[in-house]
Amino acid sequence: MTSKTVKCPKCKNETTITGKPGEKTQIICPKCNSKGVFTFPIENTESKTTTDSFTIEVNNLTKKYNNFKAVDNVSFNVKSGEIFGFLGPNGAGKTTAIKAILGLIQTDTGQIKINGIDIKEDEKQAKKHVGYLPEKVAFYNNLTALQNMHFYAEMKNVPKTECKPLIIEMGLEDAVNKKVGKFSKGMQQRLGMAQALLGNPPILILDEPSGGLDPRGVALIRDKIREMKNKGSSVFVSSHILAEVQAVCDSVGIINKGVLVAEDTLENLRDRLNLKPKLVMELEKVSDEIINSVKKLEGVEKVDVLGVMLHVICNPRAKSKIILAAEKAGGNILNIQTMEPSLEEVFMKFTEG
Ligand SMILES: Nc1ncnc2c1ncn2[C@@H]1O[C@H](COP(=O)(O)OP(=O)(O)OP(=O)(O)O)[C@@H](O)[C@H]1O
Ligand SMILES: [Mg+2]
Repeated sequence: MTSKTVKCPKCKNETTITGKPGEKTQIICPKCNSKGVFTFPIENTESKTTTDSFTIEVNNLTKKYNNFKAVDNVSFNVKSGEIFGFLGPNGAGKTTAIKAILGLIQTDTGQIKINGIDIKEDEKQAKKHVGYLPEKVAFYNNLTALQNMHFYAEMKNVPKTECKPLIIEMGLEDAVNKKVGKFSKGMQQRLGMAQALLGNPPILILDEPSGGLDPRGVALIRDKIREMKNKGSSVFVSSHILAEVQAVCDSVGIINKGVLVAEDTLENLRDRLNLKPKLVMELEKVSDEIINSVKKLEGVEKVDVLGVMLHVICNPRAKSKIILAAEKAGGNILNIQTMEPSLEEVFMKFTEG
């Protein structure tokens, strides 16, 4: 099963649906009732390089600022070929952990390996194949986008011919020869991403890549992340935009007040929290008989009625019984859709308090 967040073309409301690759499903927008059809893409499994080896290993990492623990005994692994989402509220310790992974700050305890190489033993070699987009991108303001990229290409020992196509790919075709000092925040961010992609790195570390970007820029970054994964790269991405992470990531680490409170696949996190999916049924007509027959079923937690729509929070195993009960009570079901709990709910549960 795979999850997909789709946007209603009419009211722009976002809904997450689940299905099998290749499956065609009818969607009814829970907000405006518009109908549509979605076909789940068939993934190209050949291009996946996921193995059980780790590209980033973090063990017992602690970083203190004076006596304050910005990162407190954090351990996690990023598998080869996966997209790992690193989530947490402001000040949780995401950037600090990323800087520690890259050896940019002194740490108090912990061991970090990139591609099996301890960064304390050989930082240069460990970071050789890493593309990094920092939280705050920094370029030479008096140089153009292309000149800045040439500078990074030289540092990374990457052919300069890669620079212009990457700038264009990131939607900056009109600004190739413009001085970066005149760039907007979003334009700088796009150039930062182009810089991170130099040399087609097998490991990408992106700290809030969508920061300051317009929706088109956000979509561009998301597509790039997916493209890099399909090429076999591992992507470590910190973000607040939960829907974005949900759309691309394989695994999630949630950090709160310096402590890693969860690390798992999104599916397992939902299971652990016992978050229930929602069954949404569109009926020709809703009656008390239908509502009561659904409410009394085992596994049904809550029933909300919105016009002719029945929103039922339930145990996944109760779904077929709900459908049968509604039909038996005289309901004519026009459409059925399952809405999975979102990453937002998972995130809130783990970071509350
Ligand atoms: N150089 C520093 N000196 C002192 N404290 C710092 C320093 N850098 C970060 N901190 C503190 O460490 C904590 C974690 O900061 P960090 O930047 O890692 O958070 P973050 O999760 O990246 O947050 P955001 O989502 O806002 O980017 C914060 O409380 C912050 O104030
Ligand atoms: Mg940060």
